[in-house]
Amino acid sequence: MAKVKFYTGESFPLEMHKVRIIQKLNLIPVEERGKAITEAGNNTFLLHNRDVFMDMLTDSGVNAMSDRQVAAMMYADDSYAGSETFTRLESSVKNFFGCKYFLPAHQGRACENVLSKVFVKKGYVVPTNYHFTTAKALITVNGGTVEELIIKKGLEIKSDLPFKGNIDIEQLKEVIKKYGPDKVAYVRMEAGTNLVGGQPFSLENFAETSKICRANKVPLVLDASLLADNLYFNKKREAACKDMTLHQIVLKYGELSDIIYFSARKLGFGRGGGICTNDKEHFLRMRELIPLYEGFLTYGGMSVREMEAIAVGLEETLDEDMISQGPIFIDYMVKELDKRGIPVITPPGGLGCHVDAMSFLDHIPQNQYPAGALGSAFYIASGIRGMERGTLSEQRDEDGKEHFSNMELLRLALPRRVFTLSQVNYAIDRLVWLYENRRLVNGLKFYEEPKILRFFYGRLEPVSDWQSKLIAKFRADFGDSL
Ligand code: F0G
Repeated sequence: MAKVKFYTGESFPLEMHKVRIIQKLNLIPVEERGKAITEAGNNTFLLHNRDVFMDMLTDSGVNAMSDRQVAAMMYADDSYAGSETFTRLESSVKNFFGCKYFLPAHQGRACENVLSKVFVKKGYVVPTNYHFTTAKALITVNGGTVEELIIKKGLEIKSDLPFKGNIDIEQLKEVIKKYGPDKVAYVRMEAGTNLVGGQPFSLENFAETSKICRANKVPLVLDASLLADNLYFNKKREAACKDMTLHQIVLKYGELSDIIYFSARKLGFGRGGGICTNDKEHFLRMRELIPLYEGFLTYGGMSVREMEAIAVGLEETLDEDMISQGPIFIDYMVKELDKRGIPVITPPGGLGCHVDAMSFLDHIPQNQYPAGALGSAFYIASGIRGMERGTLSEQRDEDGKEHFSNMELLRLALPRRVFTLSQVNYAIDRLVWLYENRRLVNGLKFYEEPKILRFFYGRLEPVSDWQSKLIAKFRADFGDSL
């Protein structure tokens, strides 16, 4: 990776690319932001993007593509069957992971659907370092359960542990023993563990997991959606990876896994997904479902342009300058907030900056969704939309009881190469203001609650008139500023 030191001794993230296309942004006045979030049912997913200044909802499908990716899109071969574009993508994926078989899918959850339908049955369990929303919903819909076995310290907000996404090896052995290997559908390891702050696992932990899986003849499934960030941290934080190239590390993950799937909305900076394996039997079982749910085997629901972009995006994932921009910007944002006493997950991970709403809004009980309330308040304060990653993103138990999340997070994603450092500084400034005025913020309650994945389109209202007070305080403090 390019190493550049600053003469003044200060340290800033320095981009190794330049911007050649821009999109104009809108920052609407605070009163209009209040109206927009009310209309959206205090759910940032339901805001119109025209009302959003910085869209920090997610990094999914919104990373900035490279010139080479855009150029490749123009070269795509549009045919339903046997497209040259698919052949290029297939060979790019096979080369990247070192695998024999590849199945295309329209996005990450489509891969999870295929996996769950093939492997999960009633009474089966999927041990995982940590669940992801769609992965868990698709496992439970097929009658399975999820056992979360992340190391205990992975759930501590403040830490200097380099690999908080590691699975607890002893617990994994116990769970396999408790259910019996026949009832373990597969073990799922998620790179760049999304819901606990984009925290990576070590290659060493993955290798131990693989050993246990193989000894018990249980498939090991790698969710590689956030692999680019995980790779960056393997290289930076793990002594054994220091002298390995990024490709050598990826190939090692390929060797140790039985099945790999990924959302190409994240890995490869395109829009699509795929499943890879070296096991012919697994391949044939999963293949049956692709034409049924995704599309013919040479596109799987993806457009040829996106497939070309993903093929190039995977190649670029092996370039340290290309994958470092996200982690170094996140590192800057997390450290600046931490310095100012704002509770954020440390060490800085991938994907984004994760604000600890449980502590930020420690006066709001979990059944009034502190992370959701923080998301709504932060939009009012800044025009920035983040994503609730807490109890709202959980599903109720079968008897309707609320399932409190381990962490209540407001995730401020940093889509790669999209925002400048001044925009990140703006986000920091508004968070500092909100932190000083946090006692004005109060909870939320549902008035429309969908049964499955309720966080996507459920609607909530404030439990009091706290939002108008927050808006009035903003005006008093900022005068005529947007
Ligand atoms: N696995 C992980 C680790 C993810 O982060 C996601 C998506 C998926 C699977 C599902 O992939 O969206 O292509 O169907 N994460 C997005 C996010 C939604 O905002 O974090 P998908």
